Amino acid sequence: MKIGIDDIGLFVPEHFFPLDELAARHNIDPNKYLVGIGQELMAVPAPDEDIVTLAANAALPLIDSATRASIATVILATESGIDQSKSAGLFVHSLLGLRADCRVVEFKQACYGATAGLQMACALVRQRPQEKVLVIATDIARYEQNSEGECTQGAGAVAMIVSENPRLLEIHPHQGRYSLDVMDFWRPNYRSTALVDGKLSIDVYLESLQHAWQNYRADGGLALTDISYLCFHQPFTKMAKKAFSVFENIEPEAAKALGDKAYSTSQLYGKAIGNCYTASLYIALLSLLDKTEEDLSGQHIGLFSYGSGSVGEFFSATVVKGYQAHSRRQQHARMLAQRTRLSHAQYSDWFYGNNQPASADYSTPRVTTGAFRYCGAEGYRRLYESTAQQLQMAS
Ligand code: HMG
Repeated sequence: MKIGIDDIGLFVPEHFFPLDELAARHNIDPNKYLVGIGQELMAVPAPDEDIVTLAANAALPLIDSATRASIATVILATESGIDQSKSAGLFVHSLLGLRADCRVVEFKQACYGATAGLQMACALVRQRPQEKVLVIATDIARYEQNSEGECTQGAGAVAMIVSENPRLLEIHPHQGRYSLDVMDFWRPNYRSTALVDGKLSIDVYLESLQHAWQNYRADGGLALTDISYLCFHQPFTKMAKKAFSVFENIEPEAAKALGDKAYSTSQLYGKAIGNCYTASLYIALLSLLDKTEEDLSGQHIGLFSYGSGSVGEFFSATVVKGYQAHSRRQQHARMLAQRTRLSHAQYSDWFYGNNQPASADYSTPRVTTGAFRYCGAEGYRRLYESTAQQLQMAS
């Protein structure tokens, strides 16, 4: 049975802040960010956007009436959770008008959560092939202002429909996993910004990749010589180059044959968006699928998912013949091209201002023009709004 990604869509906030201006603010050479880190722009959510609106906006174009009727599970992965109890997926389920006989759950393990979601989705489809699973990776990456992590912030969501006989990517059964209890990056419940030991996080990521790859091979996975492209979790795009160096060390001949081309196209979207935690690997995958000119049909892709704390997983997939006909590349290109640049003051206010106070009642200013917005709270209950016309168009 062939199981995998039948449809995939990206949503990023309508605003960005450029990294060369951030470098100027930090009084450092812009090339540290542009070249050393490999980031050009960071996506910045408006006060009336959160992980729910990003997720619902990413999923909306994928939901026509037939898909709506066949989605039996929603798995939302995030590490920017909005509630300690209720799954953010329930808000998304409601905004999208999905059926009631559907299970909805939130997954958390740092940036790795969406991969656990994708693997569970494949297992569910194998069990009940008539049903589809909606997997959404949605996050806002936020570090302390003026910290070393600030240049690696970003925001965005990727939604995927997992089904039998997928039209885009067939996921292979082989899996290479590696878990290690380590404090490289974490966010205690009382904090809105992450804490990180940057250098340790890079070392553990690379160690995790090496173990996950070996585990994948031991599980019967493809040899590197059979893989054409590699997509890595990209907290910043230079990380893909560092990840590839693991293969240059352990599989020098095969890595040389692949060359930088194996991962360079998968860096393009990430450079213009920034870290989206759970969504970053899938943004790399979309970048590869959307931006590669040659026909990828039949090619095997290796994917490495990493979530601090830490869990790493290497898995692989084959691009399905005819995938281009189902691509949303034009929609993604339009969305990225139409974004608005923020001033430093506006970026600081939106990213670090007290926009979402812990008070019972408040409302957010109307900024986003997306199909869904976060309106504030009444009696501590979060409120969302949808544009009926856009919902109708999608159904
Ligand atoms: P830093 O100390 O500011 O940077 O922190 P640096 O001094 O290490 O420099 C970075 C690179 O820029 C270096 O290159 C420099 O040589 C280069 P590298 O040696 O790495 O190849 N550089 C220059 N290049 C050109 N022109 C110049 C110049 N100056 C310097 N003038 C760090 C960097 C990434 C550690 C920091 O931004 C950070 O802590 N980020 C957040 C943590 C992170 O992203 N970790 C990645 C692995 S963990 C992970 O991926 C999980 C995560 O997504 C969370 C989750 O799972 O939930 C984070």
